[in-house]
Amino acid sequence: MTGDANTAARQGSVLVEIGPVSRFLPDGERVVTKAGDHEILTLACDGEIFAVGNRCTHRPWRLEAGRLRPEACEIECTLHLGRFSLRSGAATDGPPGRPLPVYDVEVIDDIVHVRIPDSSMS
Ligand code: FES
Repeated sequence: MTGDANTAARQGSVLVEIGPVSRFLPDGERVVTKAGDHEILTLACDGEIFAVGNRCTHRPWRLEAGRLRPEACEIECTLHLGRFSLRSGAATDGPPGRPLPVYDVEVIDDIVHVRIPDSSMS
């Protein structure tokens, strides 16, 4: 699902509202949110909610349909099978050489939020 962001600014960063925790846990959705220059993929793995950039760093291919590898909390790009850690954003296999952006996730009153740099919201 793609949605526009509700945002709240604070100290050099912006908190973007993503949706209720119940959408993600226990076996939740993948949610794509656009906020400024960012396209954020939010999803859960192993009981934890992660937010990473939704564009593969090998080619500008969207990751939202990629296979989740729950044993390592990695997502696999559907185009050339590059893999990324959801925890660190690191490219762990395949052609991508650069990591994905990783965003801090904050849960406030059972609503998932993602924190992004303020300067990128112009
Ligand atoms: S586009 Fe993702 S691995 Fe090539």
